[in-house]
Amino acid sequence: ITRQRLVLGNWKMHGNQADNATLLSALAQGVQAGGTEVGVCVPFPYLAQAQQALSGSTVSWGAQDVSAQEQGAFTGEVSGAMLTDFACRWVLVGHSERRSLHAETDAQVADKAKAALAAGLTPVVCVGETLAEREADDTLAVIARQLAPVLALGAPAVSRMVLAYEPVWAIGTGRTASPEQAQDVHAAIRQSLEQLGAGGVRVLYGGSVKAASAASLFAMPDIDGGLVGGASLVADEFLRIAAA
Ligand code: G3H
Repeated sequence: ITRQRLVLGNWKMHGNQADNATLLSALAQGVQAGGTEVGVCVPFPYLAQAQQALSGSTVSWGAQDVSAQEQGAFTGEVSGAMLTDFACRWVLVGHSERRSLHAETDAQVADKAKAALAAGLTPVVCVGETLAEREADDTLAVIARQLAPVLALGAPAVSRMVLAYEPVWAIGTGRTASPEQAQDVHAAIRQSLEQLGAGGVRVLYGGSVKAASAASLFAMPDIDGGLVGGASLVADEFLRIAAA
């Protein structure tokens, strides 16, 4: 199976209309069709701006979270249907910052992934171990635990997702996993996907990906691209990562 390369930017809680305009237009002009697929996951208030700036370009856009609920009295939540109303393609689900700062559980993450699929979005399900878990040699067990309720949604659902492996100790720290460290985990994830019959699912690496580190990470057989935080806010850097 050939898996098309994908590089997604996660702006996190950064941006304003003026800076976004510059960044989005640089991406719209800088990404050519036919190569690596490129997208950005922006804060909710800027979805309309992303839609307007990127429509007609090859760059896709999406959000950083979605409610597991369809609609109703859920103050502050945003539904999958609202995201597709802005023509979103992607939504991040279970980012480590959501898991740690908002106490999202593995089961809730799976519910969100399911809701995203139901709305016609591609959920990008994030998993990853903390430094303590890695040092205790628990990495693969943690990843398996985080993925279990997602994989339980079954092959037809999982086949329509993207997964992202983001070791927590590498996020925003400048400390990237080595290509071999990342590949080990990606290979284990790939094996679970194959067992399920969803081996074609793309698995991105995230955690301090920079232009300088991207090529060696993306050269690994089971790394299908990147989920990029800080470096996605700098057009040149992000475009070089996408070209890696
Ligand atoms: O979603 C992106 C990751 O959290 C990585 O962030 O590239 O700033 O380390 P970072």
